[in-house]
Amino acid sequence: MLRRSQLFVPGTDEAKIRKSLTLAADSIIFDLEDSVPESEKERARDLIVTMTDELTWGRKELCIRINPLGTEQSAKDVERFGRNEKINSIVVPKCEGDLSELKERIGEKTLIPLIETARGFLALEKIVRAEGVVAIAYGAADFANSVGGKTSAFQGNTCVKTVIAISAVAYGVQPIDCVFFNFKDIEGFRKEALHSRDLGFRGKQVIHPSQIEAANEIFSPSRDEIKRAKQVIELYEKNAGSGRGAIGVDGELVDAVHYRWAKSVVENLGDA
Ligand code: COA
Ligand code: MG
Repeated sequence: MLRRSQLFVPGTDEAKIRKSLTLAADSIIFDLEDSVPESEKERARDLIVTMTDELTWGRKELCIRINPLGTEQSAKDVERFGRNEKINSIVVPKCEGDLSELKERIGEKTLIPLIETARGFLALEKIVRAEGVVAIAYGAADFANSVGGKTSAFQGNTCVKTVIAISAVAYGVQPIDCVFFNFKDIEGFRKEALHSRDLGFRGKQVIHPSQIEAANEIFSPSRDEIKRAKQVIELYEKNAGSGRGAIGVDGELVDAVHYRWAKSVVENLGDA
């Protein structure tokens, strides 16, 4: 499943929930955690149930971000949504490793843990190998808080992002990049998304409609890439058939490694 753009929508905001129907995000994440004040948690749960009963989002993945595991609010969230058939996936904030109890309570639903604490980072391998986990996402602001550093240093942190991306793909899990808070700065958003795409991320969590189009574009192969991939496949297969595994295409070496890249580009097109 494509998760190029995952839009957060505050669970208390009916207008934004309705608006999310019309937007091109691959996933919608109804939030019960940090965009919902403590006094509004129950109202948010009620509203999400009402809205998901009334409306249908077509092929979009519908997710709920519950409160951190171990809290009273998260127990209520799981109680309410663990068996709700409209919801496909549970987003687990500040995840630090143990997901087995949660998995038992959500049936076939999938899990998208957020890596946003120092301990979550150290538990990456356990998290990506846990049953039901299909993607992990990075939360830079909470990560900075957890470390006692600054969001500005963690937002585009190549070291942290590289480890997250490698840990995820090692076990067939999609790495999803952090949200970008300034929703008017689309150039800044694009720059950050291109950086994370080049590190292996498959998508980005977003907070505003203005960021969706850029995320969908950046996390899809470009026309030029598709064209190049098809050309590489054709020429490589033709030459391999007559015994040549290394050829020059437009002045560049093409061998089995480029062929594997080209195949993965073309195979992933089927998802779109
Ligand atoms: N989901 C759905 N629709 C959204 C949206 C979102 N996350 N953010 C904005 N919109 C809609 C608005 O409702 C408005 O719709 P309209 O033109 O039909 O009235 C339109 O997009 C333009 O919104 P704008 O006026 O620019 O923003 P805002 O002041 O309404 O909201 C935020 C700004 C930051 C509060 C809002 O984008 C938001 O709540 N984002 C998600 C926050 C969140 O979930 N945080 C937790 C995870 S980090
Ligand atoms: Mg967070």
